[in-house]
Amino acid sequence: MKTTAIYPGTFDPITNGHSDLVQRAARLFDHVIVAIAANTHKSPFFPLDDRISLAKSALSSHKNVEVCGFDTLLVNFVRARDAQVVLRGLRAVSDFEYEFQLANMNRKLAPEIETMFLTPSENFSYISSSLVREIAKLGGNVSDFVHENVGAALKNRIS
Ligand code: COA
Repeated sequence: MKTTAIYPGTFDPITNGHSDLVQRAARLFDHVIVAIAANTHKSPFFPLDDRISLAKSALSSHKNVEVCGFDTLLVNFVRARDAQVVLRGLRAVSDFEYEFQLANMNRKLAPEIETMFLTPSENFSYISSSLVREIAKLGGNVSDFVHENVGAALKNRIS
């Protein structure tokens, strides 16, 4: 059976930490879908189309990775794509509580779908999209944290 994992998130914007996780997942699953949420509790800095195109350019070297947006309940999207797994990253203990709640709620909604966690390289454990945005807004150098196209898009949007 072909294994498909969905990696959902806001990706506002995609960082090297997200890409590291995708690279690991791409070795484990036949197909990885990076699913970018249109509706989140956050108000995104980049519109959905930009978040999608930036993720596509950062992940273009992976042949078995697809990037798309979604605006439904996550479990419905997972079912619609015939995927078996929701993939999430755990960077630190502080991520755990929220992730545990999300995984258990998704299991309640769709018991047949499993959530699996991967940890990014420790080099990326301190990166988050909001910190990257803040550094870029204040004129800092984000080239160690994001793909060059993402860095350029941040500069563009800020100016
Ligand atoms: N490397 C670097 N940073 C990472 C990371 C990694 N490997 N993994 C997570 N992060 C960061 C993100 O940059 C983000 O940082 P920020 O908050 O500073 O911007 C943070 O961790 C969490 O973001 P993300 O992983 O994108 O998750 P999210 O909380 O924004 O996404 C959804 C939540 C989209 C998965 C969830 O709201 C959802 O499923 N929505 C669909 C609707 C639905 O089904 N709702 C009911 C759910 S039970």
